[in-house]
Amino acid sequence: MTAPVRNDPTIVNVALGARSYDIVIGRGPLASLGARIAALRPGAKAVIVTDDNVARYHLEPAEAALRHAGVASSRVIVPAGEASKSYRVFEQVCEAVIASRIERGDLAIALGGGVIGDLTGFVASVVRRGLDYVQVPTTLLADVDSSVGGKTAIDSAHGKNLIGAFHQPILVLADTALLDTLPEREFRAGYAELVKYGLLGDADFFAWLEKNWRDVFAGASARDHAIAESCRAKAAIVARDERETGDRALLNLGHTFGHALEAACGFSDRLLHGEAISAGMALAFEFSARRQGLLPMAEAKRAIRHLAEVGLPTRLRDIAGPLPSVDQLMELIAQDKKVKRGMLTFILVRSIGAAFIEAGVDAREVRVFLSEKLAER
Ligand SMILES: NC(=O)c1ccc[n+]([C@@H]2O[C@H](COP(=O)([O-])OP(=O)(O)OC[C@H]3O[C@@H](n4cnc5c(N)ncnc54)[C@H](O)[C@@H]3O)[C@@H](O)[C@H]2O)c1
Ligand SMILES: [Zn+2]
Repeated sequence: MTAPVRNDPTIVNVALGARSYDIVIGRGPLASLGARIAALRPGAKAVIVTDDNVARYHLEPAEAALRHAGVASSRVIVPAGEASKSYRVFEQVCEAVIASRIERGDLAIALGGGVIGDLTGFVASVVRRGLDYVQVPTTLLADVDSSVGGKTAIDSAHGKNLIGAFHQPILVLADTALLDTLPEREFRAGYAELVKYGLLGDADFFAWLEKNWRDVFAGASARDHAIAESCRAKAAIVARDERETGDRALLNLGHTFGHALEAACGFSDRLLHGEAISAGMALAFEFSARRQGLLPMAEAKRAIRHLAEVGLPTRLRDIAGPLPSVDQLMELIAQDKKVKRGMLTFILVRSIGAAFIEAGVDAREVRVFLSEKLAER
């Protein structure tokens, strides 16, 4: 057996002044976790927060990497799944972190997907009035989206991510080999967020993905390249607009329709977040193409063809089971977005790679469009 090739990782910096940090991307850098932490915060202890799926595969290697660099660590394991972004689990993790004698200068490490990243980041933002934390993403979605940018949250009975804080990590270590144990469906769902960066701002990256997506799924250097490109795109947007007062909203391409569909499916395994975003982006492209002079229909079809080709849902009929009426879908959209004088804000597209924020979308126009789409099912 030949040893796997270990190239030097790619480093992408998130430029936020005193809160700047590196994203380290490659196959294998988990082994350097302890050394990187010791260099950033000499003498600090760490508490690793993870879920029971991730713990099975990746907790021991992470602990070994800390031990080798002399970083003392403890662990907190929570149940896998969105339900862990709750007050109850938040409280348990806060208490466990305090019980492990983590002091102000010590660190939390989020080892997991977006659920663990959001939960751990929020815990770190409040325990002892703020601890530093490190993101070690283990899903594709977390690699390209949730681990970067400092949005942390848990869920409220009124909706997802309503209790949270902006709290930037001090390091993101994206070891792409950790994705080898990720179920294919989860990988594919994360791919929707990855291709989003091409669709919203980089036509060349989208064209590259059209040619190379099979290699991205298979692993190796194409996967690392695609993750690094996505992190560069997200880092640039976050550096321009950390608190989403402007441009950062572009990252919500496909999310207005997507969130409504996700909610309609009860945030269940029926439709994963990335799957909902794929269908939502397909709808956003078609909706853009219908508005006068915006986007050629052929271009919308090209975007949708790629999403369908990788096996992501693009039509309402791709979503199994019943969907609510157009009234209920409009209600879900209104819960997600403020409707001002009958107008909604949407991320629309002029072409592949050129998304923009449109504040004046008539809710009636959206309703007509969605009724047609529901009728096509
Ligand atoms: N903070 C942000 O900017 C941001 C952005 C996007 C999404 N999010 C949040 O991210 C969450 C979704 O994240 P996700 O899709 O990563 O879900 P997740 O964290 O629930 O992970 C998905 C599933 O994969 C398992 N898993 C994770 N890594 C694995 C691995 N390497 N091998 C085997 N199994 C593994 C998990 O245990 C879980 O069952 C949502 O709560 C969403 O709100 C946050
Ligand atoms: Zn998303």
